[in-house]
Amino acid sequence: MDSLIHGFHNMSIEERRKLIKEFSGLTEEDMETMDYRMPMDAAGNMIENVYTVMDYPVGIATNFRINGKYYLIPMSLEEPSVVAACSNGARYARPGGFTAYSTASLMRGEIELYNVPDPDYAIIKILQNKEKILEMANTRSRTLSSLNAGAKSIEVHYVNNELIVNLVIDVADAMGANIINTMLEYVSGYIEELTGAKSNLRIMSNLTTERITYAYAKFDGKKLGRETVERIIMANEFAKHDIYRATTHNKGIMNGIDAVLLATMNDFRAQEANAHAYASINGYGPLTDYREDSDGNLIGSIKVPVAVGTVGGATKTSKKAMLAMKIMKISGSTEFATVLASVGLAQNFAALRALADEGIQSGHMKLHARNIAIAAGATGDMIEKVAGEMILRKNISYTAAKEIIEKIRG
Ligand code: MEV
Repeated sequence: MDSLIHGFHNMSIEERRKLIKEFSGLTEEDMETMDYRMPMDAAGNMIENVYTVMDYPVGIATNFRINGKYYLIPMSLEEPSVVAACSNGARYARPGGFTAYSTASLMRGEIELYNVPDPDYAIIKILQNKEKILEMANTRSRTLSSLNAGAKSIEVHYVNNELIVNLVIDVADAMGANIINTMLEYVSGYIEELTGAKSNLRIMSNLTTERITYAYAKFDGKKLGRETVERIIMANEFAKHDIYRATTHNKGIMNGIDAVLLATMNDFRAQEANAHAYASINGYGPLTDYREDSDGNLIGSIKVPVAVGTVGGATKTSKKAMLAMKIMKISGSTEFATVLASVGLAQNFAALRALADEGIQSGHMKLHARNIAIAAGATGDMIEKVAGEMILRKNISYTAAKEIIEKIRG
């Protein structure tokens, strides 16, 4: 079933659910999960000092085609316009959709050694014994070893009177934080013995320069018009040369990526840190790039580190997060990464298109007005009528919506 759906936003919640069920082959139990609420004791087992749970809305981004496969993508966030813009961005990328690739899941863990008696000697001792260190680390995960993944190599550098040992670990379909930290703590005693140094921090790095995802799309030049194509490219150049703009540009990318991470209960803070650190490696700049092809289409691309797992992690402890993964029909972490990068590109394109064209406020205002109309009790066709009238009156407020609803109802 194609994910290109016209008028999804005009459907009722029930109609949307029916469509998602059909698209993703959901069961009755999955449908019940849509109304599930995490019990207090489950929440209390997840974090400390719990007194309630938070209600974030979850919407669906439509129209995605990634590496030939159709996706409906759950997104959770508090900001209006993002889900609509993302779906719109994906629509402009049709018919080809997104082409994306994610590298192997190589991550780094760091051991900080201080009081190093003889750094030159210590580096050699670590490297001479690297096979033994890797073997020791790999005893911590039978799963990774059985997949021919796990600790792969060691790098050592001396900075600021300290020796930093990096373990490079293939974490396969995991996000990796737990296993990396376990491995580091396990081998650090042996490294202390080898070097006569003391270890301080033993912790994964959230910068994953060896776990990168690429996505590419051709946005329809005819639909965009030549001026908009040129303005988007100009906007991207602006971001390359102005850190104030680059920050906002990348924030827009993360609007999409974080929203999918939230819907699937993944660590979006890790992804934020990763993306922004990566964007700053050669001086802070945009994570996307744009150019025009010889047919006048806009070619967009993104290169972003994405460290997400599909095994372990909090996703498995949340029924709704599991359901979000099922809706996307994702099989492994590299596929998930290609979805996230494509969402980031679609989101960024949509923001630049709106900014380079009509500006984002009109779209924002329309959605804001719809939300107020719904909050005031408008349903079905009345939502658009009430929202439209409030925009005309230049008064988007709960009181105005109530008054218009009463007037329509007579
Ligand atoms: C708003 O949340 C995100 C944008 O500011 C991104 C951008 O300016 O590219 C619209």
